[in-house]
Amino acid sequence: MDDVSKLSAKFETDIKSVRTYKEAEALAMTYLGRNGHINSLLKTMKDLPTEKRKALGSSVNEIKKSIVEHIEKKRKELMKKMEEETDIDVTLPGKAYPAGSLHMVTLAIEEISRIFEKLGFVRMSYPEVEWEYYSFEALNMPKNHPARDDFESFFIDTPSHDDFGKMVLSPHTSSGQVREMLRVGAPPIRMINIAKCYRPNWDVTHTPMFHQFEGLCVDKGITIANLKGTIDYFVKEFFGRQRSIRLRPFHFQFTEPSFEIDVSCGICLGKGTIRNEKCKVCKSGWLELAGAGMVHPNVLKAGGIDPDEFSGWAFGFGIERPMMMKEGLKLNDMRIMYSGDIRFLEQF
Ligand code: DAH
Repeated sequence: MDDVSKLSAKFETDIKSVRTYKEAEALAMTYLGRNGHINSLLKTMKDLPTEKRKALGSSVNEIKKSIVEHIEKKRKELMKKMEEETDIDVTLPGKAYPAGSLHMVTLAIEEISRIFEKLGFVRMSYPEVEWEYYSFEALNMPKNHPARDDFESFFIDTPSHDDFGKMVLSPHTSSGQVREMLRVGAPPIRMINIAKCYRPNWDVTHTPMFHQFEGLCVDKGITIANLKGTIDYFVKEFFGRQRSIRLRPFHFQFTEPSFEIDVSCGICLGKGTIRNEKCKVCKSGWLELAGAGMVHPNVLKAGGIDPDEFSGWAFGFGIERPMMMKEGLKLNDMRIMYSGDIRFLEQF
């Protein structure tokens, strides 16, 4: 038997033992691949006399054609079998995986940033792990001052720094005020500092981690009128055109004069009553919103700014509470916001 007939006989047995598509692929490589049997046969041709070479050439081509056809046929058979066995309907729609969404606080932060950006405020964030100095002393609250009790804090267990004191988890965003003055160097300053704050409280209206945003504006001739106008603009953008604000005298160590800011209730629209009954949401027509005031001269000095030349205002808002007011949400336990409960979170 010549080499071509031997190869042909071998192929006939080989193809009979092919059971899977993968095996058919492997067989194709063994016979038709670059180093396959067909090419090895063709390589022997060059040493043959012309007549024999021609004859071998044409018989190798014939068997090659037949091998290609047989393997192609086998492949088709096996492909069909595979489809029948797996029973896949390729026209069915795919699986829809649940899509995530941004946390409600993240959405509120984005909206607040956008509103203040329009007024030319620069968005900043300052350290969450902060020196006692920036959290208190720089804000006109010297060591042992009773006002510090209002800002109960988590202290970090590290050695105390000679100038900056201990490290704390920042209890309010006001700690960014003097840092911003020092960063900018000289007025004008228009900053919005949005950050996480920490205080050791854990009940239905408090979580130990919460968010605040702090506004700071320092320049020549800045007055309470600017403060009121800015907050009024924010409230109308964030809560709606029909809402208004009022300032109530208050006391903060870092501002003089100081105020608390109330926003008119979205339910009774500031009247305090609905159809001659007390409004159940606000009871008085107003909801407490934020603290604010004219920056105390000592705070300006701590930031290297001359209080005789410049003046400024500052305010500090929580984020979780105003956000609930905006959504008309009455949560009976605020901690659910940070519980990771998808059933609650996916509603926003
Ligand atoms: N830091 C205060 C707090 O956490 C809020 C505050 C009050 C911020 C008055 C201010 C301000 O900037 O002027 O309760």
